Amino acid sequence: MSTLRHEQVLIRTGARSGLPVIVAVHSTTLGQAVGGCRLWHYADWRDGLADALRLSAAMTAKCAVAGLANGGGKTVVAVPQGVELDAALRRAVLDDVADTIAALDGAYATGPDVGTTPEDMAVIGERTPHVFCKPAQHGGSGDSSPATALGTLAALRAVHRRLHGSRTLAGTRLSVVGLGSVGLRLARLLADEGAELLVSDIDTTKRAASDELGATWVSPEQALTADVDILVPAALGGVLTEEVVPRLRCAAIAGPANNQLSTEAAGDLLHRRGIVWVPDYVASAGGVVNALTIELHKGTPDEARERVEAIEHTVADLLAAAGHRHVTPAQAATELAQRRLSGAE
Ligand code: PHE
Repeated sequence: MSTLRHEQVLIRTGARSGLPVIVAVHSTTLGQAVGGCRLWHYADWRDGLADALRLSAAMTAKCAVAGLANGGGKTVVAVPQGVELDAALRRAVLDDVADTIAALDGAYATGPDVGTTPEDMAVIGERTPHVFCKPAQHGGSGDSSPATALGTLAALRAVHRRLHGSRTLAGTRLSVVGLGSVGLRLARLLADEGAELLVSDIDTTKRAASDELGATWVSPEQALTADVDILVPAALGGVLTEEVVPRLRCAAIAGPANNQLSTEAAGDLLHRRGIVWVPDYVASAGGVVNALTIELHKGTPDEARERVEAIEHTVADLLAAAGHRHVTPAQAATELAQRRLSGAE
């Protein structure tokens, strides 16, 4: 799944905001491209473009492996360092995003992502119908984070069963890196199940939430390299670098953060160290699965939950296939995505 072969990439200077708006449509082979809108600071807009290219390709794989009839895309608004979005600028940039999506004429629909909320989706929805996860009162399925957290929990169960024969996570040591909207919800689900948790966030005000969960608060560096069963990356991407991987002490890695591997070589290194890595796009599919099941396929919340929980079977199958064929779970996932994209499965 080459990240260099996108169907189209639209880069505009927002007419109202003056900010770079980038929409990458990676693939519509399986259907309309979907992927969230990331509103984030970048030193250079080209870094935002690189993120959009990688994240949109990952969305294609995410949808294909999750069995959705959709392709992958992504929006990135590359906010320059030092520019703070006040209410007026935020409104302006969301209108610019909406116009850019509208110009793609249905090839791509957006949703929330890092830096955007369901309320922002309602604003975008004033100018284009191609938007998921508006709040319920605006006719959408709302916040996708609870479903993303639930899907990640399902992935963790599959990993734990593969390693230790049991799918319950009570007593299992996990390290959650990042307590954002998904990370915190996931940590709560894990704490409720009786897992032994280490947690961290660059924002130290999150420590109160950690205390509430009865988790052990550590620094991001300690969380990453802790001696745990499963490491759960739940912050921004690129945490698994060639410098970090040799220092890891976990048996497996599965988490909701997108783009976890900083390079392909870091992935090879993980494999050589015998650390099981569940591709981020497989573990994090719960949000998009939930939104599309409810909004596109008119499923009930129960049906959506069932489909999100099915991520456990998807991960179990990938781990089993990888084991049989002596390939990494990442290779097994790429091959499954390719089979689905070529219509073979
Ligand atoms: N941004 C989330 C993801 O990366 C969720 C999402 C995207 C939800 C698009 C709906 C539509 O998967």
